[in-house]
Amino acid sequence: MIESLSTTFKVLLTAGPTHEAIDSVRYLANRSSGRLGMALAVESARRGHPTTLLLGPTHLSPPEPTPFHLLRFQSTRDLQELLREQWPQHDLLIMAAAVADFRPVNVELEGKIRRRGETLRLELEPTPDLLADLATLTRPGQSVIGFALEPERDLLESARDKLRRKKLDAIVANPLQTMEAKTIRASLLLRDGTMCRPDEELTKPRFAAWLFEHLDVIRQQAPRAEVENIS
Ligand code: CTP
Repeated sequence: MIESLSTTFKVLLTAGPTHEAIDSVRYLANRSSGRLGMALAVESARRGHPTTLLLGPTHLSPPEPTPFHLLRFQSTRDLQELLREQWPQHDLLIMAAAVADFRPVNVELEGKIRRRGETLRLELEPTPDLLADLATLTRPGQSVIGFALEPERDLLESARDKLRRKKLDAIVANPLQTMEAKTIRASLLLRDGTMCRPDEELTKPRFAAWLFEHLDVIRQQAPRAEVENIS
């Protein structure tokens, strides 16, 4: 129940894919739609939390009037910069973006790779782990929720591993089919080893409401952070 909410907190969300440039006209991307992250941002704002959404390159349009602060990114590098700038002013980070794991090196942003009738090999370098990068900026009282998109078979084991490795407060474990879908059947794993799951497959807006019920509890258990407004 929204009425039972005892406190508001400042929420930073990331959603959507990243585009990693190959040259000035081509990029590497993934199939994330950003739909779940957008639903989470709408739900967060509906609950009265000052909310910022960092949204990647997606065709989804935010509702009008937009009930949250919206900033756009294209690449992992742009997202990293926005996160470093925004995270210190928020209490809860929900990292739903599908961040690229690799990006092309030696990109010619001014030019275009020409077809020369021979095989083209792209060299890729690993992207930085943005959650690990933020860990140095994270203060006591801030909470971080990650997402894991995994094949059904290793879902819970991989999600538990990421929860520990990335030092998260909780992680949402999603089967691969969630990508591009309108519905979701995911589990929430907490650091204390508990796991919760909705009884049925839900639309993404309903899943967002379910998740926020649980996040309210996580925030209530976090050391109290100062409350101030985002301007
Ligand atoms: N993530 C991140 N930085 C990256 C890649 C992912 O911060 N370079 C975040 C995602 O936004 C998500 C969480 O880490 O909240 C898990 O993402 P996932 O792609 O499942 O994990 P990876 O770190 O990429 O690990 P793996 O390649 O083993 O799946």
